[in-house]
Amino acid sequence: MQYQNSLEFAKAMDQQDPIAKIRDEFSIPKTADGKDEIYLCGNSLGLQPKLAAEYVKRELTQWAEQGVKGHFSGDFPWMPYHEFLAEGFSELVGAKKNEVVSMNTLTANLHFMMVSFYQPTDKRFKILIEDHAFPSDHYAVESQVKFHGYDPKDAMLLIKPREGEETIRKEDLIELIEKEGDSIALVMLPGVQYYTGQVFDMKAITYVAQNKGCMVGFDLAHAAGNIPMKLHDWNVDFACWCTYKYLNSGPGSVAGCFVHEKHHTNESLPRFAGWWGHDKMSRFKMENNFKPMESAEAWQLSNPPVLSLAAIRGSLDTIKNAGGINVLRDKAIKLSSYMRFLLETQLAGEVDILTPNNIDESGSQLSLAIKLNPNDSPELGKQIFDAIEQKGVIGDWRYPNVIRVAPVPLYNSFEDVYQFVRILTSEINSQRGVQ
Ligand SMILES: Cc1ncc(COP(=O)(O)O)c(C=O)c1O
Repeated sequence: MQYQNSLEFAKAMDQQDPIAKIRDEFSIPKTADGKDEIYLCGNSLGLQPKLAAEYVKRELTQWAEQGVKGHFSGDFPWMPYHEFLAEGFSELVGAKKNEVVSMNTLTANLHFMMVSFYQPTDKRFKILIEDHAFPSDHYAVESQVKFHGYDPKDAMLLIKPREGEETIRKEDLIELIEKEGDSIALVMLPGVQYYTGQVFDMKAITYVAQNKGCMVGFDLAHAAGNIPMKLHDWNVDFACWCTYKYLNSGPGSVAGCFVHEKHHTNESLPRFAGWWGHDKMSRFKMENNFKPMESAEAWQLSNPPVLSLAAIRGSLDTIKNAGGINVLRDKAIKLSSYMRFLLETQLAGEVDILTPNNIDESGSQLSLAIKLNPNDSPELGKQIFDAIEQKGVIGDWRYPNVIRVAPVPLYNSFEDVYQFVRILTSEINSQRGVQ
């Protein structure tokens, strides 16, 4: 594709975009002067699908009009409400419907999964995670190894990029697993790295790690709704994701979880149980004799917050209306490639793109490191970020010098991408005194 740095070109791309209209299904925040924000922050908090608002309102009405009867009445009774999300989740992560469930929040699910899948022994007690993992994952792993009586210095195996590099090379990861695998109980890595946007080769990691006898789990916070996956076929043991980023289900919304069906009937797996994981046919007999469901639902603890599930259902339906994850991925590749083209032609030397420049290793997000000269204030990057925000560009800032931006195929346009790079270029030039 021959990209061009012009508004006409961006508009022409939008006109040819078969899913451009889906943007109208979202509420787009406005700037002070009433224009649509250039919202590139779907990697942090996705925008509100109109269907999410509609479905939440529907359940509020149901509650107002039906009270407790809402558990069993209407088209979407609350009792089995989580089941209405299984199809959407399963398509997004490449799972069978019985392998996915919505429950709890992401970090809580990581813990519950580690209760089942981190079973350290004297010889095999380590957890492999990234050195620069999202802090919540780091804390969760650290507290789990301590809970089992190990010293995190011995039991946490941290993989980091080579000196001077930003992303982890696949060959280094594979080599480490091959070398240390006999002592690793669990490999727990992201599907997409939160800081750099790097996509990990989940299939290869799972294959190599399981050959060494390790369990494999993924944190899909930045992968779910962003890239297509095949968790079942890849034989991943478990995965967890939040639903407020690319799944547009609202701040702190209920999370998703995948447990491979090969584990569903394994009675030797330890688990922290609750009544919602108990066989649904006999749940209300209240017999205190835990019989887990033979699905990922067995890991549920509580009856779930339906208002949050309703928002997820609205979001999943919106994704379905757009044609599903593969359609979104096609557009995402074009959007992020266009952004990369514009950045490389307009801002070479000013901005380093940390996200790998190859389709297999990148999703929607590009992580842009603002290059600082020796005489620059260390705050220059943040000043640039604040200045573009004043002009209606919403991304997010990560110290010391990174702006993360994610053009999201559901609601971002090629024109958003064009305007973002135009505004960023003009701000950087004005900071540098270039006319
Ligand atoms: C990669 C990753 N892991 C974990 C979390 C924590 O999520 P939660 O607060 O929903 O537990 C986040 C939140 O953004 C994240 O990006």
